[in-house]
Amino acid sequence: MTVAAHDGGQGGASQPAPHPEADPQKLLAPVLSAHWDEPDSYTLAGYRRHGGYRALSKALAMDPDDLIAYVKEAGLRGRGGAGFPTGMKWQFIPQGDGKPHYLVVNADESEPGTCKDIPLLFANPHSLIEGIVIACHAIRSHHAFIYLRGEVVPVLRRLHLAVREAHEAGYLGADALGPGKDLTLTVHAGAGAYICGEETALLDSLEGRRGQPRLRPPFPAVAGLYACPTVVNNVESIASVPALVDKGKDWFRSMGSEKSPGFTLYSLSGHVARPGQYEAPLGITLRQLLDMSGGMRPGHRLKFWTPGGSSTPLLTDAHLDVPLDYEGVGNAGSMLGTKALQCFDETTCVVRAVTRWTEFYAHESCGKCTPCREGTYWLVQLLRDIEAGKARASDLEKIADIADNINGKSFCALGDGAASPIFSSLKYFRDEYEAHLAGRGCPFDPAKSTAWGDRPDSAHLEVNA
Ligand SMILES: Cc1cc2nc3c(=O)[nH]c(=O)nc-3n(C[C@H](O)[C@H](O)[C@H](O)COP(=O)(O)O)c2cc1C
Ligand code: SF4
Repeated sequence: MTVAAHDGGQGGASQPAPHPEADPQKLLAPVLSAHWDEPDSYTLAGYRRHGGYRALSKALAMDPDDLIAYVKEAGLRGRGGAGFPTGMKWQFIPQGDGKPHYLVVNADESEPGTCKDIPLLFANPHSLIEGIVIACHAIRSHHAFIYLRGEVVPVLRRLHLAVREAHEAGYLGADALGPGKDLTLTVHAGAGAYICGEETALLDSLEGRRGQPRLRPPFPAVAGLYACPTVVNNVESIASVPALVDKGKDWFRSMGSEKSPGFTLYSLSGHVARPGQYEAPLGITLRQLLDMSGGMRPGHRLKFWTPGGSSTPLLTDAHLDVPLDYEGVGNAGSMLGTKALQCFDETTCVVRAVTRWTEFYAHESCGKCTPCREGTYWLVQLLRDIEAGKARASDLEKIADIADNINGKSFCALGDGAASPIFSSLKYFRDEYEAHLAGRGCPFDPAKSTAWGDRPDSAHLEVNA
C-alpha cells in the first residue's frame, strides 16, 4: 500500500504530463496516515509516541457546547460522502432531554472504489477511538458504537485490541469522561451489505433487524438508535477530530478552501502506476495526485475516472484540473463523495465498467422500493444486451429513461448512485454505446485492461464475461 507520507516521487507517467508548478511532496498533508509505515502504528504506544490522546485532555477541559462550536468553526465536513458539517450534526442533538445519546461510527465501507476507512482502522485505530471519546463528550453520550464491515476480520481484531488498550489506559470505561461519567464503546461486525452503510439502515441492522433504510423524518438526531438522539459519523470524520483539536482550528483552516477546509484521504486506484492512499489538503487536483503517484500505467492515458466511488458521476481527462473539494467537483457536474479516485485508461470499455457497477447496485438493492429494486434489475438486462451487441438503438433511450425513473424517486440514495454512472457515461461516451450497437458487440479486448494486459503472452488469456 502506498502511504501519503512515504511515497511520492516521479514514475513512468505517460499521461498526464507533470504539472509545471507541482512539487509533489509539498502538496501532501499526512496527518492520519503520517505514521502508517511504523510497525507498531496501530498500538497505543505507537499512537502516543506521536502525541496521541493529547487532544483528549484539551477537549475534556472544554464545555461540550464550546467544543461543538469549535468543530463547527473549524469547518470539518463529513467524510462519508455527503460532506455534511460535522459540528452542525452534533449540535442537532437535543440537550437536557433526559434520554441516552448515542454516537455511531459508520465503518461499513463497501462502495466500489472506496477504500480509506479500512486502511485507516488497520493502521491507526486509536485516532478513531480518541475522536470517539471527544465526540461523546461533545454530544453528552455514554455509549458509542463502531459498525464495521464484518468481512474485514484482521481490522476487527486490531480494533478489539485497540479498544482493550484504551480501556486499560482509562480512556474508555468508568469515569472516562470525568468523575461519574462512564463511556462504553461497542464494536459491532455487520454481515456485509452495502445498504447497511446508509445511516438509517445501519441503525436498523445494529438493532438486530434486517438492514433497510428508515423513513425520515424523524432524523437520527431526534430518534436514531433505540429511538434516542444519535449522531452517525464516518470513520475518517471522527478520526480527524483529535488532530483538529490538538493543532487548532486555524491550522485546520490553513488547508483547503473556505467552504471545504482541512486535510483528507484520497484513494487512488485502477490503472495508476502507484495506487494507494494520498493524504492532502482538500482542493488538490487529480493531475497533481497523478504526478505524485507516477501517472497512469506506462504507455497509457487517462480515459475516465470517478471522483468519489462508483455512485459519483464519472469525469474525463478534461477534468484533470478540477479542485477536489465539495464545490469544485460539484461545479464540474459530479460529487466529491468518498474521494475514491478510480482511474481507467483507454483500454477500458466504459459500457463494460458501467455494466459491472450496475450489477453491483442490482445485487445490493435492498428491495424496499420499486424504482430501485425493479429499475436496477432491468438496467442490468439491457446493459448486458448492449455489451453483447444484442441491443437496439432505442435501448439507449430506455436505459436513460429507467435511470431517470430511479434517480430522485427512490427511497434512499442507493438508487441515485445506481443512476449516476448511466447518465454520466451516456453524456461523455454515447459514441461508445453506439459502437457496440453498430459493431454488434464490444470493440474492446477486455484482457487489455487487466493487470496482465500489457504482457506479451496475454493474447491467449481469457477474461470471464
Ligand atoms: C447506500 C449507501 C451506503 C453508504 N455507505 C456508507 C459507508 O460505508 N460509510 C459511511 O461513512 N457512509 C456511508 N453512507 C453515507 C451515510 O448514510 C451517512 O451519510 C454517513 O455515514 C454520515 O457520516 P459523515 O457525516 O461523517 O460523512 C452511505 C450512504 C448510502 C446511501
Ligand atoms: S433505493 Fe434501493 S436500496 Fe434504497 S430503499 Fe429503495 S430498494 Fe432499498
